[in-house]
Amino acid sequence: MRRGAIFQLTLMALAIGGITAAVALVPHWLPPTASEQADRIDFVFWYVTVICIVIYAIVIAVLLYAFWKFRAGPDDDADGPPIHGHTGLEIVWTAVPFLLVTSMAIISAVVLARNDKTGSDPLRVDVTAQQFAWTFKYPQEHGLTTNILRLPINRPTKFSLQALDVIHSFWVPEFGQKQDAVPGITTNLTVTPNKLGTFPIICTELCGLGHAVMRSTVIVMSQEDFDKWAKAGNKAAGGGGGTAAGKTVFVNNGCSACHTLKAAGATGKVGPDLDKLPQEAQAAGKPLEDFIHESIVDPNAYIEKGYPKGVMPETFKSLPKDQLDSLVKFLVASTKGAK
Ligand code: CUA
Repeated sequence: MRRGAIFQLTLMALAIGGITAAVALVPHWLPPTASEQADRIDFVFWYVTVICIVIYAIVIAVLLYAFWKFRAGPDDDADGPPIHGHTGLEIVWTAVPFLLVTSMAIISAVVLARNDKTGSDPLRVDVTAQQFAWTFKYPQEHGLTTNILRLPINRPTKFSLQALDVIHSFWVPEFGQKQDAVPGITTNLTVTPNKLGTFPIICTELCGLGHAVMRSTVIVMSQEDFDKWAKAGNKAAGGGGGTAAGKTVFVNNGCSACHTLKAAGATGKVGPDLDKLPQEAQAAGKPLEDFIHESIVDPNAYIEKGYPKGVMPETFKSLPKDQLDSLVKFLVASTKGAK
């Protein structure tokens, strides 16, 4: 009789555990991982999830079994027999959760500590967040600056994050961690990419009108490719060239996140349509080239009708002069092409 009950309970627990495990496994609840840190976080996630599934299966099996076997009949209003403490049971149900929760805490602490380790020679990347673009600077690569992040595989990278205006948050789902960028302080994040590929960078803190388009891309490449890219980098940043270099400046600085410009295939809608620059210059009463230059370095000098003041960052005035010149040349040329 008692054996039969334990057998039935075990069967029910296995069935419930199986269904719950299927729900945990079949949809991809977490993105595929692409960093050592994300792998460790996944391990903690599954460790806790497995414990939860086992406990859930036991509790639900006992509950359903009680519904099924001990259900009172329609005329049965007698109380059950009184039960007093069971020391052995109480020790077990205190000790088991204590051990489980303590093990989770220890494993989490170990993972947190290891995820923060950068090793002796991490790649350093200074991340600047602003409405609504990301800028990445490599201080070890002559201050090379880009808007598309490139990282070598299997090397710890230490990010230092800053925000120029409001709070943003840096997130690459495949890297498994989020880190706020907060005005006035520098926050840090360590990532060791362990898969080649291209992954999205997402701002995951509501930061204003363009929050949803505040995205970029991280390309994880071999150390060799990374070195090659970094070497060619300053040239590729678009300094001292004609309109082609200017297009690079446009792309590298994330202008297309907010602006529409046919010549760059940009379709952003946060800021004014740059294919209409000549009309705007006319409305502002300025020569086209001067107007473009002014609008980049001092965006609030003239605000197009229907757009709020103060949305475009003022940081582009710190673009190197040769990049700024290329960009202006490119924009002047592209509006001529658009006509
Ligand atoms: Cu930046 Cu949301």
